[in-house]
Formats: sequence, structure tokens, C-alpha cells
Amino acid sequence: MNYRILFVCLGNICRSPAGENIFRHRIQRTEWKDRLFIDSAGTIGFHKGKQPDARMTKTLRSRLIPVTGTSRPLTAEDLEEFDLILTMDDENYRDTIALDPSGKHHTKVRRFTDFSKNYEDSYIPDPYYGGQEGFEHVANLIEDGAEGLLEFIEQEMSVGE
Ligand code: 4NP
Repeated sequence: MNYRILFVCLGNICRSPAGENIFRHRIQRTEWKDRLFIDSAGTIGFHKGKQPDARMTKTLRSRLIPVTGTSRPLTAEDLEEFDLILTMDDENYRDTIALDPSGKHHTKVRRFTDFSKNYEDSYIPDPYYGGQEGFEHVANLIEDGAEGLLEFIEQEMSVGE
């Protein structure tokens, strides 16, 4: 079974590329690496075509996490095509489910922080207008949630076998 995961934030240059790149890096050491398709998108198209924010790239590379991707806007087709859509904050969640007025795909849309293991935060804060420490905090939260997400994926994949 192949499984498609989409990370979603506002601009698709800070938080969701961090989710995409951190999780892709994390699964390289697992048996799922060739069975998961991982991507990211933003609820606004303002940064379309741009690479991840240099501050996020710096944070991830300092953790030896490769960084790839270009910003693209989220579409209604994404809600059809992906198995799991992970939003970074409540605004992202609302904007994402608004693309599916029928509600048919709403159960696929989850808050990324639902998978946190060691943090109580209910959302991943937007680091764009802050300093480098905000990017470090986002990366800490996402690295933690990636562990919980991996456990969830392991269950999903074993059910699908
Ligand atoms: P992201 O961060 O949603 O984590 O990619 C932001 C990027 C750009 C803007 C806001 C947040 N912006 O206002 O342009």
C-alpha cells in the first residue's frame, strides 16, 4: 500500500516545507521510505515558485536535514488525492476544509499537533515575522510530531496490508 501525506501551512515556505523535509528525512531509516509520498502546499499562492525561507533552510541544514521543494498553492484536488493532510494551525485547518464543501474528505484533514509526543501546543506557530529562535521552536515541534506521525503511519500501513 502506498500512502500520500500532504503538509499544509499558509505560505508553504516555512512550516509545511519543514514538515515535508523533516518527515521525509525521518522515514529514510524505516521500511516505509519507498511507500510514502510526501509533499507540502500553502493555503495562499503568494509565494508560489519560491524555495523554503532561508531561515528555515538554515535551521534544518544545521540538523543535517536536506531541504528541497518550491511553494505551491493548495487545491481542491489535493483533498481528493492525498490520504492524510496535516495542517499547522487552526486557520490552515479551516482554509483547507473550506476547499471541500461536501465534507467528503474532512476526516483526512488533521492538525499536525495531534501527533505531538512531548509538547502540549495545539498548533505550530507562524515563525515568519519573528527571529531565528522561532524557526528552531517550529523545527523542535515538528521533529517531535514526526515521531508520533511515524507511529500512526506504521498502524495505517499494517492495517492496509
Ligand atoms: P508559513 O509562514 O505559513 O509557515 O510558510 C509564512 C510565510 C509567509 C507569510 C506568512 C507566514 N506571509 O505573510 O507572507
